[in-house]
Amino acid sequence: MPRKIAAGNWKMHGDGASLAEIDALLDAQPAPGVDIVICPPATLIHRMASHIGARPIAVGGQSCHAAAKGAHTGDIAASMLVEAGATHVILGHSERRADHGESDAMIRAQVETALAAGLNVILCVGETEAQYKAGITQDIVSDQLAQALPQTDMPARITIAYEPVWAIGTGLVPQDHEIAAVHATIRAISLRAFGTAGAEVAILYGGSVKPENAAAIFAIANVDGALVGGASLSAAAFSPIIAALANA
Ligand code: PGA
Repeated sequence: MPRKIAAGNWKMHGDGASLAEIDALLDAQPAPGVDIVICPPATLIHRMASHIGARPIAVGGQSCHAAAKGAHTGDIAASMLVEAGATHVILGHSERRADHGESDAMIRAQVETALAAGLNVILCVGETEAQYKAGITQDIVSDQLAQALPQTDMPARITIAYEPVWAIGTGLVPQDHEIAAVHATIRAISLRAFGTAGAEVAILYGGSVKPENAAAIFAIANVDGALVGGASLSAAAFSPIIAALANA
């Protein structure tokens, strides 16, 4: 069975005061068997990792450059995330693809660099609203993975997040059978790429996951957790999602 993962993507939100949410999360009821990862803005990674110390929440970055180092103003190297205390990194998020023109080829190079630096990677894929309406979701997700998922002997450090672009931050969520179909495709791709180890790759759903819909989403086959944006910003909203995953 894959690990269960509840990952919070804080995007460009959060400051020092937000560290109180981490304490509140840790004070909530324990969630046995769930790996909790928070990906704050880069400026908070070191503070958050120090604040958490040995307590059971991992910290992740939201992107890293494909190059190990170099003249790339404004970018962050994978090794810098590691030094700051991150153990994970989100790569290929649709907001990076849209805001920064990241292609699948670039994302694949980022994944390789992040793995080489020792990070766990949360690789995001998902179709736009137009692609969804055109009925080509499966083709888009398969193509993104064909291009962005590298050959690697470290599949244990790869997590794949299916995030329909039209579901992110909108309150819209695909129907259960639609999520099930995409996750089954991703599982098949993972098995083809990694053999039996592909069965252990966690596949997360992301896009408007809330306390109200979390249990139903986690009941879907091949949904091993969630990548959560808005609802991960407060412990009051994220804790029940984590609890739902623990009970799934
Ligand atoms: P959301 O964002 O939960 O706010 O829809 C999810 C994401 O972008 O990872």
